[in-house]
Amino acid sequence: MPSEINASLQTLRDRGSTTAEFRNAVGRVCEHLLRRTKDTLRHKNTGDEDLVFAIILRAALAFLPSVNRVFPGAPIAVLGMKRDEKTLAPRWYYENLPPLTRNSSVIILDPMLATGGSAASAAKKLIERGADPKRMYFCGIVAAPEGILRLSRCIPEDHILLASIDRGLDTFGMITPGLGDFGDRYFGYEGRAVIG
Ligand code: PRP
Ligand code: URA
Repeated sequence: MPSEINASLQTLRDRGSTTAEFRNAVGRVCEHLLRRTKDTLRHKNTGDEDLVFAIILRAALAFLPSVNRVFPGAPIAVLGMKRDEKTLAPRWYYENLPPLTRNSSVIILDPMLATGGSAASAAKKLIERGADPKRMYFCGIVAAPEGILRLSRCIPEDHILLASIDRGLDTFGMITPGLGDFGDRYFGYEGRAVIG
């Protein structure tokens, strides 16, 4: 991992970083991850053709500026879900996807892979809508081993691309040491339970 990306990860982990510092560090890490994703796709002989990104709202909106730089013009599916704080199960509130076929390479973006419930649910939805799990990837910033295990039951484990694998989950389903609630820190306010 390049040292500037390690430094950016430290900024993300530091609960004292300001919203502006957090957003800048996220931008650097996302761009690095997407460049790695591009290399991985090239290695697997997957070109930029029929490439579709899938962002899990709201946190994965943070990837958009980097997607525009590294994969300009790629279609982006939007999946809206929010983890229930008690059950930790994702609750869907939105989906809007481009047409998918067995030839589509689909890259799911979400900065946090905790229990893996959201990412696995996204993968299942994309499969239902026509995507081939063998051509599906996940790109995220921080993961817990539990989330990797769960997602690897849906897509190949070597298609899960991450900046960091942390120790595990706490009793609230938060990644430890992690970086706290990504959405709240990136958007600059604590998430409210009012969703559409
Ligand atoms: C966070 C995060 C992932 C999910 C990860 O989103 O961005 O989508 O939790 O947790 P899991 O692996 O246990 O499913 P959250 O549901 O808090 O919504 P938000 O992006 O709107 O903040
Ligand atoms: N979602 C987050 O934003 N952070 C975690 O640690 C777990 C889920």
